[in-house]
Amino acid sequence: MSPMPPHKKKTPPVLIRPTQHGDIPALIALGNRIYPGDDPWLVEHYASHIKHFPQGQLVAIDPQTDRVVGCASTLIINWDDYEFDHNWNEFTDNGYFTNHDPEHGKTMYAADVMVDPDMQGRGVGKAIYKARFQLCRDLNLLRIRAGARLRGYSQYVDQMDAVDYVIKVIHKDIGDPTLSFQLKRGFRVIAVCENYLRHDPASLGWAAVIEWINHHVALRRDFRKRDPKYSPRKKLKPE
Ligand SMILES: CC(C)(COP(=O)(O)OP(=O)(O)OC[C@H]1O[C@@H](n2cnc3c(N)ncnc32)[C@H](O)[C@@H]1OP(=O)(O)O)[C@@H](O)C(=O)NCCC(=O)NCCS
Repeated sequence: MSPMPPHKKKTPPVLIRPTQHGDIPALIALGNRIYPGDDPWLVEHYASHIKHFPQGQLVAIDPQTDRVVGCASTLIINWDDYEFDHNWNEFTDNGYFTNHDPEHGKTMYAADVMVDPDMQGRGVGKAIYKARFQLCRDLNLLRIRAGARLRGYSQYVDQMDAVDYVIKVIHKDIGDPTLSFQLKRGFRVIAVCENYLRHDPASLGWAAVIEWINHHVALRRDFRKRDPKYSPRKKLKPE
């Protein structure tokens, strides 16, 4: 198993609220820490997110310090306009969310989630997702989909292909820093794709396409027939 962030100590619950323009410098600093050397979002990206979908942009605030310790960036898309193997740039219009389509879309696309490295493993990500699920329910949207970049895959690339890696993470034989977290939130893997974030050295571009269904609005036909190879391992009944 790859290392799991230790649950250091119980911290008071964080406050989750919509992102404001004044949060942008803190979000840029956070992005630089989480994705060093990459091309983290700039002021114009965050400003565009707030302009197109203010409710979908969330920050986590530490109530003791009033500091931004996490965030989530989301848009609504019409899934029929996309393919499973589209990459992150295509799903987010190069990070600007100008493809946000609340008129036709029933899918919330989870473009990013970040928690301050010093605060990881304390339930901040969980609190952010709780708010994301509530937003999906409040807007009567069908589901949340995302590409979970396979952050731990580069350590296993010599041993197995990405599909086998994902199956091992689903079976809890391997822990992946992103996908294990998403699966615990109730997401299911529906596909594995290459070239999602082409220049990400940790995932080597590989991602799992994941889905969380809003049971309040879903109909039977909305539960896309899932590939059984991505099903969680069944618990054996005691004899
Ligand atoms: C992924 C991320 C948002 C998780 O946030 P977090 O605040 O550390 O997560 P939490 O403390 O709320 O953890 C929630 C659960 O996930 C589990 N989890 C977190 N990291 C894990 C790991 N590396 N392996 C296995 N499980 C993990 C926790 O054990 C916890 O389990 P529980 O529900 O049984 O208590 C955070 O690690 C992060 O910012 N990563 C870098 C950015 C990133 O990769 N984002 C995703 C882009 S696709």
